[in-house]
Amino acid sequence: MSQRSERLRVAVLASGRGSNLQAIIDACEAKTIDATVCLVVSDQPHATALERARRHHIPAVLRERSTSPTQHAFEAAIVEDLKKHRVELVCLAGYMRLVGNVLLHAYDNRIINIHPSLLPAFPGLKAQQQALEAGVKKTGCTIHFIDDKIDHGPIIRQVSVAVHADDTVESLSQRILREEHRLYPEVVGLIAQGTINIGRKK
Ligand code: GRF
Repeated sequence: MSQRSERLRVAVLASGRGSNLQAIIDACEAKTIDATVCLVVSDQPHATALERARRHHIPAVLRERSTSPTQHAFEAAIVEDLKKHRVELVCLAGYMRLVGNVLLHAYDNRIINIHPSLLPAFPGLKAQQQALEAGVKKTGCTIHFIDDKIDHGPIIRQVSVAVHADDTVESLSQRILREEHRLYPEVVGLIAQGTINIGRKK
């Protein structure tokens, strides 16, 4: 645990199921990490991630791209949400949009993403299927700072996962997901305690 009086204020951006969001919330609530999820933003009205947030009394905001006139306005609204909740770290967890300049500049070096492969291998959609098709014996998950390219930017931590001969996309995805749920809270915890530096103000 850090010596700070305030816990790291985290926002999670998610488009769907939100199981990684749940893992982060659980670690925060169990106080195994010195962080708090103070905001969840989704671009999808039916995202389970929004329900999970509400269940934990975390502010949940829906920001649909289609209701904003431009990408700039869409991201400016999200930045406003983040500022309003004094967010220090943004975690993308199954957020299915490319982050643009407005968000990138507002949270430079403070946005991280999780991807279900050992980047730089298999970026983009269906990473587990890509791994099976390539015939690799090992894949895994990666947490990285983001930049303006898909699933790209400085790598923070990776965990490798064995690919079994009889794996399906489903079985492999489940095995990777178990590691994702361990790794994401761990990395948020390392940032909260300052082991990974995001230039947090003292
Ligand atoms: C995870 O596999 C994550 O690595 C990828 O999208 C999936 C999101 O799952 N970016 P969930 O919404 O956290 O359950």
